[in-house]
Amino acid sequence: MGYKVAVVGATGNVGREMLDILAERAFPADEVVALASRRSQGQEVSFGDKILKVKVLDTYDFSDTDICLMSAGGDASKEWSPRIGQQGCVVIDNSSAFRYDADVPLIVPEVNADAVVGFTKRNIIANPNCSTAQLVVALKPLHEAATIKRVVVSTYQSVSGAGKDAMDELFSQTRAVFTAGEVVTKKFTKRIAFNVIPHIDVFMEDGYTKEEWKMVAETKKMLDPKIKLTATAVRVPVFIGHAEAVNVEFERPLSPEQATEILRAAPGVLVIDKRENGGYMTPHEAAGEDATYISRMREDATVENGLNFWCVSDNLRKGAALNAVQIAEVLVNRKLLNKAKRAA
Ligand SMILES: NC(=O)c1ccc[n+]([C@@H]2O[C@H](COP(=O)([O-])OP(=O)(O)OC[C@H]3O[C@@H](n4cnc5c(N)ncnc54)[C@H](OP(=O)(O)O)[C@@H]3O)[C@@H](O)[C@H]2O)c1
Repeated sequence: MGYKVAVVGATGNVGREMLDILAERAFPADEVVALASRRSQGQEVSFGDKILKVKVLDTYDFSDTDICLMSAGGDASKEWSPRIGQQGCVVIDNSSAFRYDADVPLIVPEVNADAVVGFTKRNIIANPNCSTAQLVVALKPLHEAATIKRVVVSTYQSVSGAGKDAMDELFSQTRAVFTAGEVVTKKFTKRIAFNVIPHIDVFMEDGYTKEEWKMVAETKKMLDPKIKLTATAVRVPVFIGHAEAVNVEFERPLSPEQATEILRAAPGVLVIDKRENGGYMTPHEAAGEDATYISRMREDATVENGLNFWCVSDNLRKGAALNAVQIAEVLVNRKLLNKAKRAA
């Protein structure tokens, strides 16, 4: 017997990707239901070779659904995830609403799959922020090898990380620049076409943005609270794929060659690192791919035991939808879902 899976936010960037990934990976689902707001009722979305008609979240009964992949933003998640969990359906939430809740595990399967068992307190599991997911996939094996003391990361984040309206804004602004039309800014605070914006999510009192704070808090929760991390998060005019320039200081020596070898063997990582023209990965090439790509590994000789590298991944896949489906696979493979509920 397979599972019944609901995808909330099925018309969005992440939701559509979730449907694709469930189909691609042949997730053991007997039934997949697409849900969104009333705005999208009856709209059609594809799931493998099938077409699903979108149903409305507000009126959907979750009592016979096993897993809810939630991707409808923080407000909808705060309102709905606890209610869905109380109906016995396990919510895997993409928003930041529950990531810092001690009773909600925050999971990247390559990093801390064992922590998933903590989901039973609230029937909610959180997916990390897109920029953190790819970072911890790369940091985990290096931390095991030489213990990370400090990380300095600068991000180059694509517009799809801000939803489908943000992608439309980059497209329409780019067209307006070429046709000498009016460049309209709604979703972003400044023009994003042919520009970069050092501001993602809201400003905090200390001058950092919430996106930067999330990378610190989530890395500590998933990997090690002792790791010091400082970040600058920047939006760039790329449709899909986040890149990160990462500087790491370790407690013990780790050469670039050793780090590369470790990463080559690490789950979820592919190393593309030839010291020649084009011998590195870019977001454009990572779009549609599952791996976290590492390039430009080199020593930082300005500190003791320091390395620099470049990390690229598809933010809609490893940064969101793929990671959520991988968490669902962990629940299935470890037989953690309460199938008795369905038999009742
Ligand atoms: N994009 C990324 O890289 C990324 C990475 C990690 C996490 N996330 C998180 O994933 C979530 C979705 O992101 P996205 O990029 O897919 O956004 P999006 O493209 O703007 O899509 C939002 C989806 O949520 C639905 N929705 C919004 N309010 C709703 C409500 N009250 N009830 C039911 N459905 C509602 C929308 O349905 P309608 O079409 O009916 O409006 C749409 O399907 C956000 O929490 C985001 O922070 C995104």
